[in-house]
Amino acid sequence: MSTLPTVLVFGGSGLTGASIVAALLEREEFEVKVPVRPSSINKPSTIELQKKGATILPFDIASSSSDVLQEFVSGADTIICAIVFTQLSLQYKLIDAAKSAGVERFVPCDFGTPGRRGVRKLHDQKLDVREYVKASGIGYTFIDVGFWYQLHLMYTDVKKAYVPWLYEASRYVYNGGVVKTAYTDLADIGKFVARIVTDPRTLNQYVFAWGEEITQQDLLKYAQKYGNPNVEIFPKSTTDLESLIAEAKEKKLGTLAYWDYHYSMWVLGENTVEMAKLPELGGALDTRELYPDMEVRPLEDYAIEFYR
Ligand SMILES: NC(=O)c1ccc[n+]([C@@H]2O[C@H](COP(=O)([O-])OP(=O)(O)OC[C@H]3O[C@@H](n4cnc5c(N)ncnc54)[C@H](OP(=O)(O)O)[C@@H]3O)[C@@H](O)[C@H]2O)c1
Repeated sequence: MSTLPTVLVFGGSGLTGASIVAALLEREEFEVKVPVRPSSINKPSTIELQKKGATILPFDIASSSSDVLQEFVSGADTIICAIVFTQLSLQYKLIDAAKSAGVERFVPCDFGTPGRRGVRKLHDQKLDVREYVKASGIGYTFIDVGFWYQLHLMYTDVKKAYVPWLYEASRYVYNGGVVKTAYTDLADIGKFVARIVTDPRTLNQYVFAWGEEITQQDLLKYAQKYGNPNVEIFPKSTTDLESLIAEAKEKKLGTLAYWDYHYSMWVLGENTVEMAKLPELGGALDTRELYPDMEVRPLEDYAIEFYR
């Protein structure tokens, strides 16, 4: 039987989760277990994690009773939650179970950008979970990572757009595009998280992990240099963005979270390390200061690959 500390990664088969699981396994300091819904046992990302050495456990939080959940998480030293953003409320019963089972550290499903309450619906839901974690008395670490490199370069080829409407929306440039925002490569998120969860300094703290801070003008330069020198941008004002948000709210469009993020990042400038450190935004510890030796992938390096 392994004597290594056990980390349970809920949502480990997802995009963020797989990055975290891979980095945890690479450190060889943990036994890494990944609960996946029974319907996901044979999906390629699950099989890939198994090949890398993770223990895959068929489990569905949604349908499990609190007793079953408590039994399931008992023995785990750390729980990391990286489930899909539409299911964040599943974490409430997971937190109760983790607390009852004596789990030492709970990392809820954040992995987003810092900001004030009342600006973004999704962020408010994540802040509610943080409040619940604190009130429960369980050990915790809250981790934000800025925006993924993988989601926010300007598309110069419609075929590459993650979803079709992003082809144009990725080139909306607000108020001249001079506000800085923090970005992280998806693969680096796992590396940060694997270090953070072994670090006693981060227990009961909010941590901001980030690769680079850049502006939309910088994004445009990469798009011109590596994508299309004549790439068209769509200048937008704060009022334009407020209209997009109002329309998405009224029509209940799935784009609301995207415009909310834009407002927080490009208008309010909330997604920077300086803002994350403010007490009113959580008083984050900065990974640059915690881990000065850690190398992160430069955005330009990713841009070259992206536009190739
Ligand atoms: N900072 C950024 O730029 C950025 C970008 C995207 C996401 N995020 C954040 O990162 C976190 C994780 O997002 P993600 O995109 O990595 O997640 P994801 O890949 O969409 O999903 C993660 C896992 O959630 C589970 N899941 C999916 N649908 C479910 C359902 N209906 N009920 C229960 N579980 C379900 C799946 O696991 P199984 O099928 O194995 O059960 C899936 O592998 C979220 O908080 C999100 O807001 C941040």
